[in-house]
Order: sequence, then C-alpha cells, then structure tokens
Amino acid sequence: MCGIVGYSGDKMATDIILDSLIRLEYRGYDSVGVAIVNHDIVVYKEKGQVSQLRDLVPSIDGYTGIGHTRWATCGVPSSENAHPFKSMDGRIALVHNGIIENYLDLRKELSAQGYEFSSQTDTEVLVHLVHRYMDGDLHMALRRALQDVRGTYAIAAVEFGSDRIVVARKENPLVIGVGMGENFIASDVTAILEHTSDVIYVMDGETAVISPEEIHLFSPEGQEIKREVNRITWTSEDAKKEGFEHFMLKEIFEQPKTVRDTLVCYLDGLEASDILPPVSPSSVTIVACGTSYHAGMVGKYAIEELANIPVTVELGSEFRYSSGTDNKPLVILITQSGETADTLAACREARRRGCHTLAVTNVLGSTITREADSVIMTKAGPEISVAATKTYTAQLVSLYLIALKLALNRGAIDEMGLRELKAQLRSLPTLIERVLDRADSLQDAVEVMSRAQHAFFIGRNINFPSMLEGALKLKEISYIHAEGYAAGELKHGPLALLDPDTPLVAACLRDHTYEKMISNVTEVAARGSPVLIVASDGDEQVHLLTDHVIFVPRCPPLLSPVPLAVLLQLLAYHVAKAKGMPIDKPRNLAKSVTVE
Ligand code: G6P
Repeated sequence: MCGIVGYSGDKMATDIILDSLIRLEYRGYDSVGVAIVNHDIVVYKEKGQVSQLRDLVPSIDGYTGIGHTRWATCGVPSSENAHPFKSMDGRIALVHNGIIENYLDLRKELSAQGYEFSSQTDTEVLVHLVHRYMDGDLHMALRRALQDVRGTYAIAAVEFGSDRIVVARKENPLVIGVGMGENFIASDVTAILEHTSDVIYVMDGETAVISPEEIHLFSPEGQEIKREVNRITWTSEDAKKEGFEHFMLKEIFEQPKTVRDTLVCYLDGLEASDILPPVSPSSVTIVACGTSYHAGMVGKYAIEELANIPVTVELGSEFRYSSGTDNKPLVILITQSGETADTLAACREARRRGCHTLAVTNVLGSTITREADSVIMTKAGPEISVAATKTYTAQLVSLYLIALKLALNRGAIDEMGLRELKAQLRSLPTLIERVLDRADSLQDAVEVMSRAQHAFFIGRNINFPSMLEGALKLKEISYIHAEGYAAGELKHGPLALLDPDTPLVAACLRDHTYEKMISNVTEVAARGSPVLIVASDGDEQVHLLTDHVIFVPRCPPLLSPVPLAVLLQLLAYHVAKAKGMPIDKPRNLAKSVTVE
C-alpha cells in the first residue's frame, strides 16, 4: 500500500512532488523517495516521512519527476527498500504501488542474466525487467515487461533525457491530472487538487504516456484511446486542516455537513430513484472491511427492521469462502475508498455468482464505481485521517436510505411512516451538532480511559456494531487494547478479564434494550471495574450505577448509531491526544488497503 505521484511541466518538479506526497501519506508513510530527471536521474529516498526527506533534498533543477510514499509489504522499511528504483545503467527510474506475485521467480531469472538487486522488494524486478526490454521506447518496454508479471500495480516510470512519464495500472488506483503546460499523475486526486481539478481516470490494464503538453492513453491491447476529462468538485481546501490540530478532529466536526450532503443527494427523490434494482430481493448480503463492516452491521438491523428482508453481513476477506447462494441476493459492498482489495475481490465474486452488486463509496472514479452494477456515493468529501469518521456516518446514512428504499419497493412502509422517517433523518445533522457542542463534557471519561491498557465496549441490537466501532476507533489511534462485544456475550468469557484496571464502556440508551443493558452493567460494576455509561439525555438513574456518565441526545433508536458514533469518535480522539499519539497516522495502519 503506497502512494505515487508524478509531474512533468514548466515548474521545478521536486517541491510539487513532495507536497503531493504529503497528501498521500495516509496511504503509507514508512519511507519515501523522489526521482527527478536532470542531467542524470537524481534519486533521493529515505526511511521515514516526507518531511524528513524534504530536509535532505537540495534544490534540483528538473521539470519532470516521480515520487513515492511507502507502506512496507515486501521488505522492511529502509532507504534501500524505498522507491524509486533505478535501472543499473541509471537511465530509468520507477515507482510502484501493488504486489508483484511472481517476483521471486523473476528475480532469479534476472539475477542469472547479471542484474544486481539492492533491495528486498518485489518492485525492483520491474525496473530491471523494463530495462531488459528497453529498445528506445520506454512505453513499449513497460508494456512488454508487464507481460511477464503476475500481480497488481500502479506504476510510473521516467527515463533519462525525456520529459515523459509512462504509467500502467492494474487493480491499484491511478489518475492523470490535466493542467496547462503541465500534467500530473497520482494515486488519488487529493494529491494534486492544489494544481488541477481536471482528471482522467486510468482503468485496469491501461497504460499512458504523459508529457507537459500531451496525454496519450492506451487500451490493454495497446490501441490509443480517448477518455473524457472529469471535473472534481472537491477543493484543495477540503483536504487541508483549516486550523484543527488534526485531520481527524476536523473530519469529526464536518459531520453535520457531510451527513446533510449525503441526505440531500438521495432523500427527496428516493421514491422515484433507481438506486436499487427494480426486483425486490428476497435477501441481502452486505460485504465490507474495517469500519465499513461495522456500518454494514448497522445496515443489517436497519434493513431487517424497515424492509423485513433477511440480511447477512460478511467480511470482504471471508466472502470468497462463503457458499454461493441460489437465490442471487442483492450484494451491497461498502468501501469508503472504493479500492480495498478484499472488498473488490468480493464484488467480482458476487458478480460471478450472478448477484446484483451495489457499491456504497466515497470516491468518485474509484475501482468499485466501475465494477459494481450500481453505486451510491456518500458525500463525505476527502477523508485524510487514517481512522474513518465522517465516511462512517455518511455510510450509515446511505444504508438508512437503502433500507427505506427496499421498504418502499416491497410496500413495507406506509405514507405516514415514510414521512416520519424522512423527518427523523433530516434531524440527524442537528443531533450531531448537539454531540459536538458537548465535546468538553468528555473530560472525566477521557481520564478514565487514558489510564487503561485494556477496555471493553458493549451494546445491544443496532448499537452492538456501534460499540464494535467505538472499540476499533480507540484501539486504532490510542493503542489501548479495546474489544467490542454484544452485551449479552460478556458473561460467556470476557467477564473473566474485567478487573479494576479495565474499564467497560456501555451504551445504555433509553430504548428497548435499556433494562437488559443495565443488568449487564450491574454485573460488571459488582466486580469493581470502572464503568462508563453512555446514557440518553435526562436519564439520571444511571448515576446510581457509576460516577462516569456521558450523555447523548435522545433520538429514535434506529438512528441512534449516528450520534453515538460521533461521541465515541470524540472519546477516542481525546484519549489518543491525552496520550500524545500520532492521531492522523497510527502506526502500521493505512487508509486504503489494496492488498488481499
Ligand atoms: C483500512 C482502514 C480502515 C477502513 C478499512 C476499509 O483498514 O484503516 O479505516 O475501515 O481499510 O476501508 P474502505 O476504504 O474499504 O472503507
């Protein structure tokens, strides 16, 4: 998992490439490098983050170059394993995102032919392969080299004495940014938004040659093709911190807007919209990874309650092992990036099984938008912090809309019910604002949690997944070992782990699960563990059980995962901040995982 960028134009390439790489660090940040075409190809690469490399790179007189920020998959993070890699004659440099599966065989073959390797990476075989086939045309050499390769890639290569960048893509994102007298390439549009909003998406199997004045795109068969230029509506401001200490906090505070934007897009025209296939499915399967999987679990409860259709939720990485279904259900794939390899593989498998695939994603032009049968776009804008926040609540909103649409399609909701639910959904941004307004009231809870090394989160029904997500947020950014459980499961094992140093966070909202939740909490309090109750506004009774209470605004139980998510995001954020953690870039994690 890595980020790649390239620039060819009339400005000095180094600064443009380094600035763009900073915006791609969410894709990986354990090592970084640039190659600038000058009287030679100058390569600087280092273990660490872009800011560390910037201190080392002198001003280089060069107008064409490529850069890479790495998240190690093949070979430890080190300057030797950092990209770009140069051919042995120094005339070609190359960066790569993805995995070359047959690299060991290729390495053996190339070594036998005299090629020397300086790294442990799979990528280094690519540069030697391209060199092997180089006969004056870098594009042809790259295309030929890729015939020998099994795996996935987004590749950019430059050659000495040329202002062209040659790129190739297979199952890893790659966009071309279109400028005036300058062109760009990047793994993600946010990297180049500062310079241009006009992009061309490179599709699977395609290659391209980019120079300051020209862009040539080629089909997998090598025919030159034309592709429309897409105008991106996200601005470069959307991808900046705007005075917030961290992107994560900024993104948490954006949620009233992002939830509203997502609702506005679909809610009014829902009855007439064609976001779902016309035939009502007899069952639904939701597939996703990480935070998106938790959104999918919330979606299960919403769809079953509103539309009365049975829903199965599967992890992207496990879907392929599930048995095929005869009744060809609707398969909903949730992925904010649209690039998660496991979810994409599940999408392909679902289509192979003849299911209708519906993607819920945040990134226009991402791979899933091209592979799924239909797409719902969440309107969360660019999310930079590795820990997902605003994309999660936008996914929840999309799933409520899907549930509502399924209910409408099968006549499971009447006119009045529809009107009421629409009004409730419209009130979500205000509910979120009320949670954000009380961020200061978390101080006591933050103190309790910051002292812990382990913590448990429990909830029931639709807020069981909310607590899985709360635990995931905490562990991702504070490194506290946190586990989410269905409250009823606590007594079947985890109770053995509770002690006075292990806090329990319990969602005891005023809904049909309240009494059972209170019983579960009582059991824990009796064992001396600190209990932190998330309670509905005005429920003073919970003070009888614990001193540590945080309140959320009352709202219909079905929608309560939204304000609860925002509250638990704030809790995780402030605990991580109190512990001095690198909140936006937690160790070992990357925002978009393009390996299976
Ligand atoms: C990574 C991220 C998680 C994210 C998961 C799925 O693991 O660190 O925050 O939930 O991928 O990502 P997706 O883009 O498919 O929603």
